[in-house]
Amino acid sequence: MKIAIIGQGYVGSSIATFAAAAEHEVIGFDTNSSIFSSLKIDGNYKGTSDAAQISEAEVVVIAVPTPLDGARKPDLSAVHAACKTIIENVKSQVLVINESTSYPGTLRNVIASVIEKASGLDHMYASSPERVDPGNEKWTQKNTPRLLAGLTPEATALAHKFYSSFCDEIIEVSTPEVAEAAKLFENTFRQVNIALVNEFAQISDALDIPTREVLDAAATKPFGFMSFQPGPGVGGHCIPVDPSYLAYVAENVGVPAEFIKRANQVNLGMPEYVVSRVTQEFGSLKGKKVVVVGVSYKANVSDTREAPAALVIDELKKLGAEVSWHDSVVGTWNGQSSSELKGFDIAIVVTKHDAVSEPAIKASASYVFDCTGKIKGVAGL
Ligand SMILES: NC(=O)c1ccc[n+]([C@@H]2O[C@H](COP(=O)([O-])OP(=O)(O)OC[C@H]3O[C@@H](n4cnc5c(N)ncnc54)[C@H](O)[C@@H]3O)[C@@H](O)[C@H]2O)c1
Repeated sequence: MKIAIIGQGYVGSSIATFAAAAEHEVIGFDTNSSIFSSLKIDGNYKGTSDAAQISEAEVVVIAVPTPLDGARKPDLSAVHAACKTIIENVKSQVLVINESTSYPGTLRNVIASVIEKASGLDHMYASSPERVDPGNEKWTQKNTPRLLAGLTPEATALAHKFYSSFCDEIIEVSTPEVAEAAKLFENTFRQVNIALVNEFAQISDALDIPTREVLDAAATKPFGFMSFQPGPGVGGHCIPVDPSYLAYVAENVGVPAEFIKRANQVNLGMPEYVVSRVTQEFGSLKGKKVVVVGVSYKANVSDTREAPAALVIDELKKLGAEVSWHDSVVGTWNGQSSSELKGFDIAIVVTKHDAVSEPAIKASASYVFDCTGKIKGVAGL
């Protein structure tokens, strides 16, 4: 099949690679042409910033960012821009698939509605929210089950044919709204459970009970329990963002999403809590040399979007600390390079990459506070 993928970031480039390996002819379109130098573009996977090149496609996949705006409300501007690209460049009937995460109704009431009105063409539409987990070697595009629903049976059938060429398991659900809501619920489930365990970490510390030992003990129950670990907050494109999409539609229909809001509050409060623990245990931070170890939002990836490390650094600076950061996986961040890991008063481990060793962290400072549970014998969450 001839496939065009709008957006060649983490998701779009991954789908493009798998689709090309399954012998589709893939055009990866991105408005940011500098992205192509970092992608493995060859053979039947071509990258372009020329929107006209999507005109031959039979299937057009939307994989553009869906962030929050300044008021923490859904920002669908990239989805609207992708629709405009389709309207202007696709002149015969195609299947449009949305993989970008958004609230239920986005495929039907935003994407299909906008494109139909402007183009006058009767395209097919399907929703298949992306579930890929960056850095996860066990669960990939191939073996992560994929949710799918079309607006019509024809759309579902064609989307099924496309995904089954590189994905082992396709789960058809009754409507695109079910697929869209399932994606939001999956990440909301993680967000509230992480918030719960973060709140528990604060309770158990105040009670002077070792948090992680309690969690490990609870996890021995073979049913009715799922293990989550505390941390300095949540980061990345999904967990801090997607639940707010659900809260937004909930409030539009008069249901206050209190749980989601409380979970956001707890998770966003963790950087301040971490720094308060350090102050409590170490003493005043004024003029102290502090290194934040690991600034990406999770281990072994370089993605710094919404990373709690930035908030930890802000809190430390407020208290007069002299703050540096070390992260060899990220390398450069906000125009600064990773510092050498030595000669500090305090090291706060926010993310522990395999590339940084436990002894190196311990040798870097006289006091170490670990948010990850991976450094033995030091203070931490
Ligand atoms: N990264 C993940 O782990 C992940 C997992 C599941 C779902 N998602 C969802 O997938 C979607 C894409 O996420 P991502 O991580 O790939 O984002 P990303 O920021 O890595 O990539 C998005 C790409 O889209 C391009 N783009 C923006 N507007 C465009 C437009 N109008 N036309 C063409 N290209 C455009 C950007 O230049 C960028 O290269 C989001 O909705 C996200 O929530 C992401």
